[in-house]
Amino acid sequence: MIGQNSDISGVSKLIFDLTSVGVTEADLEMLLQRLYDLLNEFSAIPVRPRGAILLHNPRHQLVCVATYGLCQRDPQNPLDNALEGLAPEIRERAYVTSLTQELGPSWASQDARFLVLPLTEGPRAMGVCLLCIDPAWKPNEELLDFLTDIAHVVSGVVSRCSISETLGVRELELEEARADAIRRLGSASEYRDNETGMHVMRMTHYASAIAKALNLPEDLREQLAIAAPMHDVGKIGIRDAILLKPAKLTAEEFEVMKTHTLIGGKLLKGEDSLIGAAREIALSHHEHWDGSGYPAGLKGEEIPILGRICAVADVFDALTTARPYKQPWNLEQAVEWISAESGQKFDPAVVDAFHRAMPDLLRVKALYREEIIDPNEVVELPELAQAEDCYVKWGEEYRIGIDVIDQHHRYLFDLVNDLQEVVSARRGSRQVARILNALAKYAEVHFRAEERMMEHYGYPALERQKHQHAYFERMVGEFYDELHHSPLTAQFDILLYLRDWLIKHIRVEDGQL
Ligand code: C2E
Ligand code: SIN
Ligand code: SIN
Ligand code: FE
Ligand code: FE
Repeated sequence: MIGQNSDISGVSKLIFDLTSVGVTEADLEMLLQRLYDLLNEFSAIPVRPRGAILLHNPRHQLVCVATYGLCQRDPQNPLDNALEGLAPEIRERAYVTSLTQELGPSWASQDARFLVLPLTEGPRAMGVCLLCIDPAWKPNEELLDFLTDIAHVVSGVVSRCSISETLGVRELELEEARADAIRRLGSASEYRDNETGMHVMRMTHYASAIAKALNLPEDLREQLAIAAPMHDVGKIGIRDAILLKPAKLTAEEFEVMKTHTLIGGKLLKGEDSLIGAAREIALSHHEHWDGSGYPAGLKGEEIPILGRICAVADVFDALTTARPYKQPWNLEQAVEWISAESGQKFDPAVVDAFHRAMPDLLRVKALYREEIIDPNEVVELPELAQAEDCYVKWGEEYRIGIDVIDQHHRYLFDLVNDLQEVVSARRGSRQVARILNALAKYAEVHFRAEERMMEHYGYPALERQKHQHAYFERMVGEFYDELHHSPLTAQFDILLYLRDWLIKHIRVEDGQL
C-alpha cells in the first residue's frame, strides 16, 4: 500500500527509531526530526520539513513544546511564536486541515495544509503533533489508519518524556527534603549565633558566586548550593557560654570551638554525593591552604575545592558583619585582609575568583541584610553587563527610587532571565524547579524586607503590597505543582507569567511607593 521508495524492513527500522529517542524534554525535537525522516520515506505522504508538537496545559490552552524546521523564535519573546490561541480540534484519528489563519506567516505559504496527529494518553487528549504537508494531498482511509498508528507511537514517546521530567523534579525534591531535615538540625545552632539566618544565606550565595567565577561544573555547583548551608551544623554541639561569648575566646575555649567541624562531620554521615559534599564542607571549611588550619591541618589541594571556596565565603561574611564578639569591618579592610591571606589561609585561585565575583558578592551583601531598609540609602554597585537580547531587560523605567528595593528587583529580573535560558536551552524540568525554588526563596526575602520597610516608615500601600506578594508566592507554588503533572508545558507558562507579573507589579504597584 504505502511506500514506493521503501521496503518494509526499512520502515520498521524508522518506526523503531521513533521510539528509541531519549526520555528528556530536549528529545522532543529529535522526535519530530525522526518522524519527518520516517514519513518522508513515503511518496504517498508528501510531508514538508516543518512541524511542531503542541500540548495542553491545565487551562486547556495549547502550548508549543517543540518545533522542527521553523524559523528561529524571536529572542525577545521566544514563546510567542504565533501558535498562541491555536486550538485545532482534538480527534481520535489523524486528519488534514488548513490552519494558515491561526498559524500566521511563519508557517509557510498561504495555502499550507497540515497533517494533524492527535496525541493521547489513554482516553485523555494530550495535544497534537502538526506536520506541514502538500496542499494538494488527499489521503485515503488506509493511510489515515497508518498515520493514526504512528500518532499512538508518538503519544507514547511524549508521555514517557513527561513522566521522566516529573521524576527529575521528584528527585530534586527528595534531595531537598533530606537537605532540609539536616539543615533543621543545624538551625538550632544557626539561630543561636545568627538570629535571622541571613549569615547562612549570604555565605551560600557568596560561595555560589565564587564557584561560578571559577567555572566549576554545574553538578558541583548544585551540590555546593545545597550543602554549603550546612557548613556549621556542628555548632549545635557547642555550649552557649562559648558560642555566644561576647568577647575573645580563651585558648581552651577556642579548642572546644574548633570541634564544630568534627561534630558536623559526624552528623553528616551518609553514602550519597550530597551528604558527602556537606560532610566535606563541614570538615574542611576551616582548613588553610598553607596547612595551618583545623581540624586536620590539610594543605593545598588536599583540601576539597568546595571547602576552599566556603572558607573564603565564610570569612568574608564573618568579617563584614557583626558577631557577638566583634564589630563589622568595612569592605575595603575585609577585601584587603582576604587578598593578603591568598596563599596562606586561602587558595590563590579561589581568591582570584573572589575578586572576579565582586560585583555579584556586593549585590548579595546589599540584598541579604539584617537591618530594615533605609529608603534614603544610596547603594552604589558596579554595573552588571546585561545582554542586549535578554528576555526581561532592566531599565530606568523600573526604578522606584529606593535603591535597595531597585537592587532587589534587578535580581528578580536576573532570575527570570536565568529561567528563560534554562527553558529555551531545554535543560529540563529539574533545572526549572531549581530556579523556581530560588525564586520562591528570594521572593520571600525581598517581600518581607519590603514589607518591614513599609511598616517601619508607615507607607500607605502596605496592605495592598502584602496582598500582591501573597498572591505571587501562591502562584509560584502552584506553578511548582504544575511542574509535577504537566512538566512539558508548565515551564513555558511559568516564564510568560513571571515576565508579565514582574513588569506589571514593579511598574504599577511598586512605582506608587
Ligand atoms: P565566625 O564568627 O563565623 O567566623 C568565621 C571565620 O571568620 C573565623 O574562623 C575567622 O577565620 C574569620 N573571622 C571572624 N572574625 C574575625 C576577626 O575579627 N578577625 C579575623 N582576622 N578573622 C575573623 P575561626 O577563627 O576558626 O572561628 C570559627 C568560629 O569560632 C567563629 O565563626 C565563631 O563562631 C567562633 N569564634 C572565633 N573566635 C571567637 C571569639 O573571639 N569569640 C567568640 N565568641 N567566638 C569566636
Ligand atoms: C559561621 O557562622 O559560618 C562561621 C563560623 C564557622 O564557620 O565556623
Ligand atoms: C517584585 O517585583 O519584586 C516583587 C514584588 C515587590 O517588589 O513588591
Ligand atoms: Fe565554621
Ligand atoms: Fe517589589
